[in-house]
Amino acid sequence: MSTPSTTEPANLMEAIVSLAKRRGFVFPSSEIYGGLNGFFDYGPLGVELKKNIRDCWWNDMVRRRDDVVGIETSIIMHPKVWEASGHVAGFSDPLVDCKVSKNRYRADQLFFAPVLITGADGVAQTIGYVSALESADTTGELQAAAELMKRKKAVQGTLTAVQPRDFTEAKPEEITQIPSPATGNPDLTPPRAFNMMFQTNVGAMTDASSVAYLRPETAQGMFVDFKNVVDTGRVKLPFGIAQTGKSFRNEITPRNFIFRSREFEQMEMEFFIHEDDDWAKWHRYWINWCKDWLKSIGLPDSHISEFDHLKEKLAFYSKGTTDIMFKFPFGVQELWGIAARGNYDLTQHATASGKPQEIFDEATKKKFVPHVIEPAVGLDRIFLAVLASGYAEEQVTDEKGNTETRTVLRLSPRLAPVKVAVLPLLKNKEALVGRAQALYTKLKRKYPCFYDEAGAVGRRYRRQDEIGTPWCVTIDFDTIEKEGDTFTLRERDSMQQKRITEAELFALLEEQVY
Ligand code: GAP
Repeated sequence: MSTPSTTEPANLMEAIVSLAKRRGFVFPSSEIYGGLNGFFDYGPLGVELKKNIRDCWWNDMVRRRDDVVGIETSIIMHPKVWEASGHVAGFSDPLVDCKVSKNRYRADQLFFAPVLITGADGVAQTIGYVSALESADTTGELQAAAELMKRKKAVQGTLTAVQPRDFTEAKPEEITQIPSPATGNPDLTPPRAFNMMFQTNVGAMTDASSVAYLRPETAQGMFVDFKNVVDTGRVKLPFGIAQTGKSFRNEITPRNFIFRSREFEQMEMEFFIHEDDDWAKWHRYWINWCKDWLKSIGLPDSHISEFDHLKEKLAFYSKGTTDIMFKFPFGVQELWGIAARGNYDLTQHATASGKPQEIFDEATKKKFVPHVIEPAVGLDRIFLAVLASGYAEEQVTDEKGNTETRTVLRLSPRLAPVKVAVLPLLKNKEALVGRAQALYTKLKRKYPCFYDEAGAVGRRYRRQDEIGTPWCVTIDFDTIEKEGDTFTLRERDSMQQKRITEAELFALLEEQVY
């Protein structure tokens, strides 16, 4: 077998979505009824991959630290929680309607530019407007649309390079000229605030008094239970409270598969510090921790970057927010937000509930409200980052010179749904099958593994490559005929093979799967 060459699929997103469906990672929700936009189901392998990501996070963030404890709070909380947190009044996105097509857009994801032509006399004139939805190359799309407009209108002169702005910045006189992406005509409404919380009713009455919300973030659970944890948890500042769980947002434009959906899972941690502590030091500490953690689950350093939110765009209470960005197939986008939120949330809940949310400082003998640093990430987004950066198509040539495409999911052994596949060389040789079954039974007690005796070994390797199984062990004639009870261990990425004993196999798994 020669060294494989990797080829980028023409459309990586399509390739991932197709693999996810074909191999049982992710399905559209309620698919037999046509699906429901923004909702997804996780299949047998997907649920394992998701659990492994969650478990890695929980182990590293909570169990392996002495300064973070975990909780699990309810999805539906008292509606006053969301009034105090500011979500009822302000958890909204700017919505734009297309009056003709009835399509809806998020104004901050809809870009436009005037088309400016400078004539031979040096006078510049606007000949119209172009628009494009946010993409990996929004500016390129707008520029192409501007050139097309110039050609169609047969205007002489020099086209100025487009300066994209988002629709929230459009002036009233521009709104009446900017074309809708659906119709190409100026059919768009001015933006209006659209609250993204899903409403429901608690109890038998469906009047205003029973209105409740599906939580749009898990974070408020940590703030509302802060005193309960302090009073019962033997915690001392600085310390964190973490939880994982479902959140719900009625996103205007769910898109990019599971990147932005309406039901998703978050993994959040609120790290409480003394009001006089150096918040910037802790903020940096958690940014670095999150980046290192992403690398520990196999995401490539080359895909990870930081984005600091502009000071003037931060909420008044926020001291700073940095997003860890990831290079997704559709562009560099937010993966993980790390926000320094001051003491805003605890103060809000203290005021709204009438219950002080303070800690007693032994040194100064004074009470104070702790400040917080919040690393908040979406589990489904990490899942997508893992699939996107792990997916590869390779051209491999065997000893006979035949070339074929191998699809491989390069998942970290920490995350792989199946850690090892056990393959008897032949299914009709009792001794091979017996030894393989015995190994499989023993492995299964500790590690998710898979037994496969159907088809040629090469095909069986390919099936495991596609679902990201790091190792296959083949029980062959050397295993049963030669001394030493060794198997062939085949490594997924290099496709290298070597002989290994059962004890060595367990030692390898012990070291790599944690
Ligand atoms: N408590 C703070 C908070 O929720 P956020 O930036 O709104 O902050 C945190 O969300 C993370 O949750 C994001 O960085 C992203 O990874 C994930 N997330 C947010 N909205 C999402 C959606 N609609 N679908 C999937 N993941 C989402």
